[in-house]
Amino acid sequence: MFDFKKYGIEMWPHDKIEAFRKVLLQWYDDNKRDLPWRRTKDPYAIWVSEIMLQQTRVDTVKPYYERFLHHLPTIRALAEAPEEMLLKLWEGLGYYSRVRNMQKAAQQMMVDFNGSFPKTYEEIVSLKGIGPYTAGAIASIAFNLPEPAVDGNVMRVMSRLFEVDYDIGVPGNRKIFQAIMEELIDPTRPGDFNQALMDLGSDIESPLHPRPEDSPIKEFSAAYRNGTMEKYPIKAPKKKPVPVAYQAFIIRNEKNEFLLEKNQQSSLLEGFWSFPLLKKGEANSPQLSLFEVAEDSPPVDVRSEFKQLYPLIIEWQAEQFSPVQHVFSHRKWQIELLEGLASSTLLPTEREIRWVAVEDFHRYPFAKPQQKMWDSYLAGKQDLK
Ligand code: ADE
Repeated sequence: MFDFKKYGIEMWPHDKIEAFRKVLLQWYDDNKRDLPWRRTKDPYAIWVSEIMLQQTRVDTVKPYYERFLHHLPTIRALAEAPEEMLLKLWEGLGYYSRVRNMQKAAQQMMVDFNGSFPKTYEEIVSLKGIGPYTAGAIASIAFNLPEPAVDGNVMRVMSRLFEVDYDIGVPGNRKIFQAIMEELIDPTRPGDFNQALMDLGSDIESPLHPRPEDSPIKEFSAAYRNGTMEKYPIKAPKKKPVPVAYQAFIIRNEKNEFLLEKNQQSSLLEGFWSFPLLKKGEANSPQLSLFEVAEDSPPVDVRSEFKQLYPLIIEWQAEQFSPVQHVFSHRKWQIELLEGLASSTLLPTEREIRWVAVEDFHRYPFAKPQQKMWDSYLAGKQDLK
């Protein structure tokens, strides 16, 4: 039994817990959002939704979810999908390791579980890319197992209910919220119980604009009763993402094709295609791809640096394009754009570099920074007309 007292938490008596379950589930029955992944019990589909929802908003996820399941309806289809198809289906969602891990997990299921989705929490959590939250969500929603799904939303709600004086951003504190949820979770409808808290946490109990008066569980909430809603959850401010300056080269040939290179180095956007990118202020040695950068090297002229890596004859253009910014969780990319016209087309063969016509761009996985660079380029060209 978890020692709640040690953490300053007063666990409720059983009848209060039962009353809480009843109120929360009644509210869910009356208010639940009609979401595509709530119309299925297929663990594979629920898994896809939960992975997509980890860092991405519900409204954004909906079309991606439908398209993913349309193209890859089964564990086998996912296990066997080519990389470019995976990236295409995930294009724009970000955090691409999510989908790579999903494929590894699908391959694991083909080998270890005969191609079917495992049915116990321990087996589910053993899969690549599935942590305690996702395993809890799948186990409870697809298999009706009484497993909590503790994410930021749930920690925020629990933190207010019990005035938990422990930072919800500290990984070691998760066990406190897990323990609370193990007491509270409804044993007959665990999936609905978890999803009720997800709905509550993303709206009435949202981080920025909570509406405590509207909460169906306000009578149960210590923070509400004691007027301490402002204080909870305890959470230290996030570190700011580190800015990194890049130079992008938008190189066009006489057939109006653009130079694209596959990122085979940077773990952040590996496998995606983009205009050649050079991290500024740091020199690349010529044998490296532009995506890889030797640390602590002196600044160089980006044009001559480009020429070392691409044996092309380039006429550099003077046009200015709005710089592009893209924020990842730990990095902020600031990208300057430079256009060049190439009068030769021979490319190095040891890397994946191609001339691509605009009509064929859709065949290539483009991550957000590439889409933004293209938009900035087009906008710059419009201004010239
Ligand atoms: N966020 C994560 N999982 C969710 C779910 N099943 N329903 C709604 N929002 C969610």
